[in-house]
Amino acid sequence: MTHRRSHWAQHLAKRIKQRTLTVGVLGLGYVGLPLAVEFARKGIRTFGFDTNAEKIALLERGQNYIRDLDDRVVADCVASGMLQAHSNPARLADCDVIFICVPTPFTPNKDPDISFILAAAESIAAAKRPGQLYILKSTTFPGTTRKYVQPKLEDSRFRCGREYFLAFSPERVDPGNKTWHTGNTPIVVGGITPVCTELACAATALAIEKVVPVSSPEVAEMEKLLENIFRSVNIALVNELAQLCDRIGINIWEVVQAAATKPFGFMPFYPGPGIGGHCILIDPYYLSWMAREYDFTTSFIELAAEVNEFMPYYVRNLIIEQIARQPVEIDRARVLLLGMAFKRDVDDLRHSPALKVAELLRNDGVGRVDYYDPYIPSVVLFEGSKRAESLQSLPALRPNVLRRYHVVCVTTDHSAVDYAMVARSSRVVVDTRNALRDVSDRRNIVLLGSGRSPLSS
Ligand SMILES: NC(=O)c1ccc[n+]([C@@H]2O[C@H](COP(=O)([O-])OP(=O)(O)OC[C@H]3O[C@@H](n4cnc5c(N)ncnc54)[C@H](O)[C@@H]3O)[C@@H](O)[C@H]2O)c1
Repeated sequence: MTHRRSHWAQHLAKRIKQRTLTVGVLGLGYVGLPLAVEFARKGIRTFGFDTNAEKIALLERGQNYIRDLDDRVVADCVASGMLQAHSNPARLADCDVIFICVPTPFTPNKDPDISFILAAAESIAAAKRPGQLYILKSTTFPGTTRKYVQPKLEDSRFRCGREYFLAFSPERVDPGNKTWHTGNTPIVVGGITPVCTELACAATALAIEKVVPVSSPEVAEMEKLLENIFRSVNIALVNELAQLCDRIGINIWEVVQAAATKPFGFMPFYPGPGIGGHCILIDPYYLSWMAREYDFTTSFIELAAEVNEFMPYYVRNLIIEQIARQPVEIDRARVLLLGMAFKRDVDDLRHSPALKVAELLRNDGVGRVDYYDPYIPSVVLFEGSKRAESLQSLPALRPNVLRRYHVVCVTTDHSAVDYAMVARSSRVVVDTRNALRDVSDRRNIVLLGSGRSPLSS
């Protein structure tokens, strides 16, 4: 359906149609840089903005810093001038369509922190001009676009749907996913007015294969939270069943695999040492916080968080049990964690459960906790506290190195690791990811959720 368009709407629609627009991307992280590259490689002039001077300096030299992106593609986009990095937000005035891809963390009390969105909106407001379209992509609670972003932009001569346009369009990028990437993952768009939705869909479709319009930003904001809550709840369900399976003596991994043969009505989720990253762990809290304002308790969110947040403690227990079975005092025990990133084949450490397991082990007085992760060269345990402790990844995994540890625990199943060698060379392996599934001699393997854990005896 085409809606009556203001002069500025017509002007922008024409630029989008003729592909003569300039796209701006505010925030060049895991979401923003792939999005900027997607536009640039499709021949749309794109300006990338970030407050992080290091990222801007790298991009200016054509250097990629996001693992999922091809270094050559980033270098080509920069060399051709299609992708330009800017630290000066005044250049936002040169953009026709601006995507906001800034972080949405939570506070120490797990309340939403939308300060980055507000700062981004203020930068835009300072450089705004008629005929611009703003699309918020950061995951947030319903109402953020209308109640928090719109008031920062609006005035009596700068009206939404007439002089400027505003929409929410959540990001779905899944770092490490080889099939679905920024360009081919369908994207939902909800504008403040129907014209905002139309323009935002048209602009997004320049880079994304399939765009799905919805009736409002609130629907788009809420659907993103539903996606992440769905994952959090299902992971929690299987994590709880994994603990039960440990007691009964049934292998949860085989159970899930068997259930997944049902061609309808089931989707497999797997247990693990807990959840991490910037999405599944944080986003559900955005909704539970909002629900409180409506005298509503989101029990599924709270319960899922409780189960998932217990998992690092559960894994710590599995490791301590294995230490206790060996003739070593706790303060002389050595544990090696394989994998620090929050999931397979990514270099993202944010809220990683492996980090939590390492801290819990140190709290318990385990003498030495080391780790190996080809993508994370160093980490800091207890960051920001007096007892902050910095660890470097082992440079390589070798049989003689593995033998030194009383327990080796697979916390992240990076595909670059030789798990057969890990099984052969370690005294005991606690496997929280079923990474050693192909190993036939399992006498030294404790698999989370398989009934072989000491807790079942
Ligand atoms: N990482 C994911 O897999 C993923 C997936 C879907 C949605 N999201 C959501 O997308 C948003 C961004 O996530 P991310 O992982 O890309 O975060 P990120 O931390 O990797 O990147 C955000 C970038 O924004 C920059 N920034 C902060 N404030 C700024 C400002 N005022 N102006 C310009 N730049 C600014 C930061 O320096 C950083 O480079 C979050 O809301 C997140 O929940 C992330």
